[in-house]
Amino acid sequence: MARKRVAILISGRGSNMVALIEAAKDSRYPAEIVLVVSNEPAAEGLTRAAASGIETAVVDHRPFGRDREAFERALQDRLAAHRIELVCLAGFMRLLTPWFVRQWEGRLLNIHPALLPAFKGLDTHARALKAGVKEHGATVHFVVPEMDSGPIVAQAAVPVRDGDTEQSLAARVLEVEHRIYPEALKLVAEGRV
Ligand code: GAR
Repeated sequence: MARKRVAILISGRGSNMVALIEAAKDSRYPAEIVLVVSNEPAAEGLTRAAASGIETAVVDHRPFGRDREAFERALQDRLAAHRIELVCLAGFMRLLTPWFVRQWEGRLLNIHPALLPAFKGLDTHARALKAGVKEHGATVHFVVPEMDSGPIVAQAAVPVRDGDTEQSLAARVLEVEHRIYPEALKLVAEGRV
């Protein structure tokens, strides 16, 4: 079966993007990463993607001001030009409109640094520590118009330890993110979800 053509959308560091790129280097992996798009021109992930020989593009949201759909139409044009079949959000820090999300229904994944439905939104690690939970983790889910709410594809939990800081907890969660995102994309690309 042909490998699914995947684009990854980023805004920053791109460590989850790297995990997906590494997994897809195996020719038996059912998806290939053909494009990385960032809304931030200075995103570190762009350099990392280019170093792996992946085509990159910048679609800066700023020139579009408040017209979120105009920004997304520019994004959509890039995805269409590359005949993209699946999109992975990996630290992409823009909210997407229902218009965009509907175009990609069932073909748009996100990774969130918490055990959804707990701790939707930002600052998940600080909020988990404040709440005193003993387990935290990460979730890969399909994107729906409501933020951090779509059907869950994969989850992994990590313990919260005495003395954890936001940084130590984030690092522990990030390790499992790098494991479950490639697993989740594999399942979706194989049509097994
Ligand atoms: C990751 O922890 C990801 O789960 C989180 O941002 C980080 C990006 O790191 N995503 C969100 O908070 C989405 N709302 P990365 O750029 O190194 O993959």
